[in-house]
Amino acid sequence: MAWPHLPPEITVLPGTDVDGAWERFEVFEALHHGMRICNPMTGADLDVVLDALTPRADDTWLDIACGHGELLVRGAERADIRGVGVDLSPWVLVRSIESAAERSASGRLSWRLGDAHDLDKNERFDIVTCLGASWIWHGFAGTARAQVDRAGPGGRLAIGDLRLRSDANAALIAETYGTVLTANDQERILEGLGLSVVERIDAGSSGWDGYQQRIMESAETWAERNPGPKAADYLEQQRQWKRDHDRDREILDWTVWVAKRP
Ligand SMILES: C[S@@+](CC[C@H](N)C(=O)[O-])C[C@H]1O[C@@H](n2cnc3c(N)ncnc32)[C@H](O)[C@@H]1O
Repeated sequence: MAWPHLPPEITVLPGTDVDGAWERFEVFEALHHGMRICNPMTGADLDVVLDALTPRADDTWLDIACGHGELLVRGAERADIRGVGVDLSPWVLVRSIESAAERSASGRLSWRLGDAHDLDKNERFDIVTCLGASWIWHGFAGTARAQVDRAGPGGRLAIGDLRLRSDANAALIAETYGTVLTANDQERILEGLGLSVVERIDAGSSGWDGYQQRIMESAETWAERNPGPKAADYLEQQRQWKRDHDRDREILDWTVWVAKRP
């Protein structure tokens, strides 16, 4: 299969299998290509995250698993930042470049293709964000730790992840599924890393509904443009994802924490 051309603006991290990445993430492309925010937040929620991160001129900013680059592009619209978006999907980086070019962003943005897990620990940034990709460091605690490691003194962080709903029966759920972190657990983890919490943004049910709707519309549009067995498979994956997600929503919510290093 011939994959699209990788724009020269994208730096490929050592060891990255570029063809393998095009192939692996085609399904994510099919289910997400029609959206800017690939998580259950609204545009207004994302602006609250940006308000709390307070990007300033010359801030360096690492966005881990940047998706379509919406957080960085909005940051670059607010201030003359030096942003780096890293993602393992070439599809999303191509869209990030297109999106930055379309908008009047004053900041300078660059894009890296590769596994964020392998990012250099010695590189420091004023802002380090990771929304919706905490599996990269095996969960919330590991990801927050990885972000702290890459933030300089006074650095600001944003981490977005699933958590147990506040009305869920934590003991019963622990018995059935094992421990699921609550909002209090996540806050304690951040404080244990020496961070002070600046803001907490919970995705509302309209955010979840909007995300599900965007995924369904993306899958359907992709299938219209690319009819065939793959399209049928991706449409089925979208339906399965919605069923899983509806079940998850009974016990899980999604929160973005913004925190600061001393
Ligand atoms: C749920 S999306 C979130 C995207 C973006 N942060 C947002 O909130 O709009 C997860 C992203 O993680 C990326 N990803 C998955 N595994 C990765 C890895 N090991 N390293 C870097 N990015 C990864 C996917 O390609 C996808 O863009």
